[in-house]
Amino acid sequence: MQPMLNIAIRAAHAAGDYISRQVNNIPNLEIESKDTNDFVTQVDRNAEHKIIETLLKAYPDHSILAEESGAQGDSEYQWIIDPLDGTTNFLHGFPHFAVSIALAHKGRLEQAVIYDPMKQELFSASRGDGATLNNRRIRVTKPVNIKGALLGTGFPFKQKQHLPAFQSMFADFFGQAGDIRRAGSAALDLAYVAAGRLDAFWEIGLQPWDMAAGSLIIREAGGLVGDFSGNENFLETGNIVAGNPKIFADLTRKLQPHLTESIKA
Ligand code: IPD
Ligand code: CA
Ligand code: CA
Repeated sequence: MQPMLNIAIRAAHAAGDYISRQVNNIPNLEIESKDTNDFVTQVDRNAEHKIIETLLKAYPDHSILAEESGAQGDSEYQWIIDPLDGTTNFLHGFPHFAVSIALAHKGRLEQAVIYDPMKQELFSASRGDGATLNNRRIRVTKPVNIKGALLGTGFPFKQKQHLPAFQSMFADFFGQAGDIRRAGSAALDLAYVAAGRLDAFWEIGLQPWDMAAGSLIIREAGGLVGDFSGNENFLETGNIVAGNPKIFADLTRKLQPHLTESIKA
C-alpha cells in the first residue's frame, strides 16, 4: 500500500474512533452555529486536530485544507479534510457520518480515504490502483441511464436560495429514477456510488472537503465525476454529478434545462 494512504487511514481511524466514542456524549455537547443550519461542536474540532496531528507528524511540510481550521502551508502536497461529514446526522444520533481525507499533489488527487466509524467501513483509493472497501475491490454499477436507477442527492439545507433549482431537478429526476436517497453525508454518498450502492449522485453547493476523497474513490471504481456541465470544475463550483460513465452522461444532459444564473456548472 502507498505510504501516504497508510498515514491517511491511520488519521481517519484516530478521528473516527474518537467520534464514535462521542456518540454517547451528544446531549452534553455545546453546539455552535457557523451559518444557517451549519453547526460545529468540539467533536468536529478535536477530530480535525487528531487528523492534522497524525498527517503532519508523518509529513511536517505538507499543506492542509481543513473544514474547521482552514488552509495552512504552501507545499505542493495538500491534504483536504472533512473531519466529520454529516454533522447534522451526528448531532441527532442518526448513525450515518464519516471522516473524509484526500491528498492532492500539484492539484491532482492522489490518495483518498472515507471512514464510516459506526459501520467500520473504510473506503479508499490511490490514483491508478483502484478503489476498495475494507480491502475488497469495489466498482460502480452498470445501468445505462436514469430509468429505474437508485440516485443519491443532498438537499440544499444550508443554502435555501438553491431550493427552486433543486426542486426542478428533483421533480425531473424523481419522475424517471427508481428512487432517490438523501442520507445526509455527501462524502459517504460518493463512497456509496463507488461501491455500487447508489447508481449516481448529484448535489448543489458542496465544499472541496465534501467531495475530494469521494471523487477519487469513484474514478478509481470506474465511475465519472464532474460539475453540472460534465467538466472538471466541481471542486471550484461545488456542484457535483457522479456515476458510471453512461448514467453520468445521461444525468449531465438532463441537468442542463435546470441550470440557473447561480448554478451554471
Ligand atoms: C454536509 C453533508 C451534507 C451535505 C451538506 C454538507 P457537514 O457536510 O455532507 O450531506 O448536504 O451540503 O455541508 O457540514 O456535515 O460536514
Ligand atoms: Ca461536509
Ligand atoms: Ca464537516
